[in-house]
Amino acid sequence: GKGEYDHYMLKEIHSQPTALSNAIDGRVVDGEVSFEDLPPGTFADVETVQLVACGTSYHASLFGTHLLRSAGVSADAIRASEYEPVSGPVDERTLVVAVTQSGETADTLDAVRTASDRGARSLAVTNVVGSTAAREADDALYIRAGPEVGVAATKTFSSQAVTLALLSQRLAADLPEATPPADSTAMLEALDDLPNQAESVLAESRASALARELLDARSYFFIGRGLGRSVALEGALKFKEITYEHAEGFASGALKHGPLALVTEESPVFAVYTGGEDGKTTTNATEARSRGAPIVAVGPDDHPLADAADAHLSVPDTHPVWTALLANVQLQLVSYHAAALLDRPIDKPRNLAKSVTVE
Ligand code: F6R
Repeated sequence: GKGEYDHYMLKEIHSQPTALSNAIDGRVVDGEVSFEDLPPGTFADVETVQLVACGTSYHASLFGTHLLRSAGVSADAIRASEYEPVSGPVDERTLVVAVTQSGETADTLDAVRTASDRGARSLAVTNVVGSTAAREADDALYIRAGPEVGVAATKTFSSQAVTLALLSQRLAADLPEATPPADSTAMLEALDDLPNQAESVLAESRASALARELLDARSYFFIGRGLGRSVALEGALKFKEITYEHAEGFASGALKHGPLALVTEESPVFAVYTGGEDGKTTTNATEARSRGAPIVAVGPDDHPLADAADAHLSVPDTHPVWTALLANVQLQLVSYHAAALLDRPIDKPRNLAKSVTVE
């Protein structure tokens, strides 16, 4: 049941320290990634990776694609419903990774079937043991988040992000031409602290008070760059689906090419930064601020964006990859508290289903 929580969504947000521990547990051994059913060398023949997914899982795939590319692995994230028109040439050296919490999403299953028919190899990254995706793919890798009841995906995004980060390191180790980034050791080491850092974000977040302050806005924008972009897109999706308010996520740099026309004092902008690659996000957020938009900085302390913003949701200053993940936890809380104040049916938003089994 929901226990002490008003909604499953809040319970699931708060279960992230445990879910993250489970996703990591036993999978980093002596500084190397180890997956029980996928021994070293499993991916030695892979030339390129296509992550196919929908919704929140697509945003986790963008996150994973960023990590694969920075590990020197050629990778793309493709919305599963667009697979057929955009996949391009595929052969047995293409690894198609179905990223799907439920393992039952029709568009995702269809994309993997299309890829398999064209000769690709497949891997399901899923939460549900025995799901269709897990059974149909050549291999399965479980994110071990535990059951998710709320329609809005929360803990499973975090578990997918961690699992894909580990997978990126495994692929980089297996592929002769891939060069793991110099800081991959630091990224894996920083994982040890991630569950506790998630706990402290949950304990100390000011998201509830902030949601109340911003409740009268007309639109909510979310911007970020690189990993921050995937978090911005996810932040906006979560916000719209449970509050029914208008929300959009953009790459920080895209704001000035059109969306800035919508920015007013009635459109708060959540600017996600990771501590890594965020000078430009500061500039873009400042542009929005000069149009009167309240800026909420979402990232570590001691950063120009935190100083320049009207409000700040603080995130522990860890490896940029995990900073991005923790920024997403802050945004989950903003969406939850805004929806709770608006008295929305948080666990079952109108028109939405937990798993979408139609194309
Ligand atoms: C958003 C949400 C949906 C799902 C999407 C894919 O909160 O839950 O966008 O992420 O329908 O579902 P799975 O991951 O089960 O394939």
